[in-house]
This record gives sequence, structure tokens and C-alpha cells, in this order.
Amino acid sequence: MVDDHGVRGDAHFVGPIPDVYERLLVPMIFEHAATSLAAVVAQSAAKDILETAAGTGALTRALVDRCPDATITATDLNQPMLDAGVARTPAGAHVAWQQADALDLPFEDHTFDAVVCQFGVMFFPDRVRGYREARRVLRPGGSLVFNVWDRIENNEVPHVIQSALVEAAPDHPLTFMSRAPHGYFSLRQIRDDLACAGLPDPTITTVDATARTNAAEAATAFCHGTPLRAAIEDHETLTLSEATRIAERALLRHFGSGPVVAPIRSFEVVARPTT
Ligand SMILES: C[S@@+](CC[C@H](N)C(=O)[O-])C[C@H]1O[C@@H](n2cnc3c(N)ncnc32)[C@H](O)[C@@H]1O
Repeated sequence: MVDDHGVRGDAHFVGPIPDVYERLLVPMIFEHAATSLAAVVAQSAAKDILETAAGTGALTRALVDRCPDATITATDLNQPMLDAGVARTPAGAHVAWQQADALDLPFEDHTFDAVVCQFGVMFFPDRVRGYREARRVLRPGGSLVFNVWDRIENNEVPHVIQSALVEAAPDHPLTFMSRAPHGYFSLRQIRDDLACAGLPDPTITTVDATARTNAAEAATAFCHGTPLRAAIEDHETLTLSEATRIAERALLRHFGSGPVVAPIRSFEVVARPTT
């Protein structure tokens, strides 16, 4: 059986993906999480903030709002994601954008009061290394603040979409959603990985929220605005338009023809280095 593992890469948010991501996915599922995570960072009164995997800047904008006195360095592996975010940053905001791999940060030791990352660590090929890098650049007393999605079954929209696509092409299952964004939800694993990196005993909070969208928009958002798109384009039997139609029909069957109102669950994590 062939699956989509590794097809053009789960972390490749490039080409037409950033624009669709910012336009459709950010308001649907990322803005609420960003508001919540920025409030956590604001409590720490951090002055120098490093954001990794900043994408198109959903959290960056929330940080500008909640931490107006801070200087934010917003980084991401994929420059096209940052490009989509730069234009949307409020004028006068203290934000420096820079391409950077979170596993190999181009910053001196002890440079930042907080390292923050919204829905990025699940894409890191070596999370312990990513956490070690965050720890290295933190000042004493600083904190690493990030969030991850819960399992796909507790996030109804991607679950309905992925189930329909797997049913439509069981011999070549499109499992990007459960493998990547929803593939790192074991709280025990997260605690163990953080402990390995010298960030023991994190505080972990469950965040329940609601996605509000409609079937056509949600199908386009997930099939066109994530690396699932590349996996579909490389697929042996499905085309992008067929897959999008399959996803939309499944959402209509599941939620009816009105608005889609669906539960989403994530975890917020705050970790501090041992002294
Ligand atoms: C789901 S998006 C989250 C983007 C943004 N934080 C948000 O909340 O909208 C995941 C992001 O992780 C980035 N990414 C993946 N691997 C990375 C790495 N090793 N270092 C830095 N960023 C990475 C991707 O480019 C993508 O922008």
C-alpha cells in the first residue's frame, strides 16, 4: 500500500498554499487560538519575543495587540508563509520577520524572554532538538509557550474530510491531517520530549473552541490551503478538484447545508528551563 507520507513534504507550506491558508484557515481555526496563546504570553511581561513557525502571522498579530511594548522576531522555515504575513502586520508594529528553521536558530544564546510557537512543533522532524534550541535562546527565567492540536477525532472538520478522502481512495490513503497537524497530541510524549530538552514539568491547558465555516469554504481551506494539497496533486487516482468535491459532499452530509459549527480542541503548553 502506498500512502502520501513524504510526498513533497508535510512541512512545505509553499506555492499557492500560504494565500489560501491566510484567507480561509486563519479565521476558521487559528485566530481564536492565537488570542488565547497571546494572553498567556502577555502574562509573562516578556520584552523580547521569538516566534518560531510563525506562518502568515496569525499569532504575531495577536502578540502585537496583547504585548504592545515587546519586540517580536517572527520566523518560519518557509519564506512564502512569512511573505503572506508581512503585508498584514499593523503599521508601526515592532516586528522583525526572518526565515529560520526552528531546529537551527540563527540567534545567540539567552537572547529572548519568551519563545512562542503556534501549531508548529508537530511539523518539526526532531521536536527535542527544537525544544533544545528554544531553551538555548531563552534568557534565565524565560518561557517556551506553544500549542498543539488534539487528536483528529476531536477536531470534527478535518476528521470528516480525511475520513471521506480515505474512503474514496483506500489504496492510497491521504493521511496528512492525522499524521502531521494532528499527529502530536500525547501529553505524556510532549512532557517526555520537553524533559529531554531540559524543560521539565510543563503546565498544559486544554482549550476547547468552535470552528464556524461552511462546507465549500472548509473543503477548499483544507484541500488547497495545507500541504494536503501537494499530496492530492501527487495522488495516483484523485485530482484536486475531485478531492475538494468529495470533502465538500462529506461535510454537507455530516453538518447539513447550513453553517458548519464544529468543535476544535488544542492544548497550550508553558515550559521553563531548569536552572
Ligand atoms: C500550521 S502552520 C502554523 C503557522 C502559524 N503559527 C499559525 O498559527 O497560523 C505550521 C508552520 O510551521 C512551519 N514550519 C514547519 N517546520 C518548521 C521548522 N522546522 N522551522 C520553522 N517553521 C517550520 C511551516 O512553514 C508553517 O508555516
